[in-house]
Amino acid sequence: MEGGKRIAVLTSGGDSPGMNAAVRAVVRTTIAKGGEAFGVERGYEGLLESSFRPLGLGDVGGILDRGGTFLGTSRSERFSTPEGVEDACRILKGSRMDGLVVIGGDGSYRGAQELCDCGFSAVGIPGTIDNDIAGTDTAIGFDTALNTICDATSKVRDTASSHERTFVIEVMGRRCGALALYAGLAAGADCILVPEYPYSLKDVCATVEQGMRRGKKHTIVIVAEGAAHAFGLAKDLSDLCGHSVKTMVLGHIQRGGAPSAFDRVTASRMGARAVDELMAGRSGVAMGLRRSDIVAYPLAEAYTENHQLKAELYELARVLAL
Ligand code: F6P
Repeated sequence: MEGGKRIAVLTSGGDSPGMNAAVRAVVRTTIAKGGEAFGVERGYEGLLESSFRPLGLGDVGGILDRGGTFLGTSRSERFSTPEGVEDACRILKGSRMDGLVVIGGDGSYRGAQELCDCGFSAVGIPGTIDNDIAGTDTAIGFDTALNTICDATSKVRDTASSHERTFVIEVMGRRCGALALYAGLAAGADCILVPEYPYSLKDVCATVEQGMRRGKKHTIVIVAEGAAHAFGLAKDLSDLCGHSVKTMVLGHIQRGGAPSAFDRVTASRMGARAVDELMAGRSGVAMGLRRSDIVAYPLAEAYTENHQLKAELYELARVLAL
């Protein structure tokens, strides 16, 4: 595929800060290379309704620093069936599109691969606060969400110290504990619970008690939603340790807000590279950040393999919390 091509872009699954920056980069790079850009509204759901919107340079002005996704997003059940994929493929070809950029997480990537299997050119950009995509150091939105969690945790720590309390803070991450681990390290949590590593309530209680004995004024436990739910954990901990445990569930606040400078830059670089890949006739690839470089690698690797948490970081967090 060369210049003069029609490239569509959609955002899919849970939104993440920086998706707008990626869309902007896709649109402006496409136009700079002599092509035409189109936004698909509401992810795969909008694709099945042929909701294409031509996007010019000015249409993506003023969105670089905006959270959410101005295109809208969805978790489309219709698209998850073979008939849905065939319909989407037919709609893309019928609309004379030459390529599609999918910005989202592993489920969205699977959809992009299915479109490729159907004979349509698609590439992926990792957009998820969970950072659970294999093959890339980071996904767009992860850094911003981390900063949101750190900020909230610092505020909770202030009041926890004043009252000498224990808090359980629940963060997002159903299968991947990256947000909990990195936020725990960055915010100085006393205990971090992630789905990847088993834990025992007795050990958590022992950590809380050890901290209290050595004069800590507060205890902060950060738990990924996939490891335990905060309210149940707080109750069990309270029963075992014999003192009250407060709870905070951060929820969707983690997905909003202006993207960090890092997420904006990564999104811009990946958006431009995604267009380069399509223009060069490559398809079925995902954009990744590795050692500060943007790389393109097979989409399937990104969702068939698990994103690995670094065991040494988990150990480091444990040592630094002593
Ligand atoms: O996949 C991103 C994510 O934010 C997960 O961390 C979370 O479990 C899920 O989406 C929540 O999804 P929804 O907004 O559909 O409730």
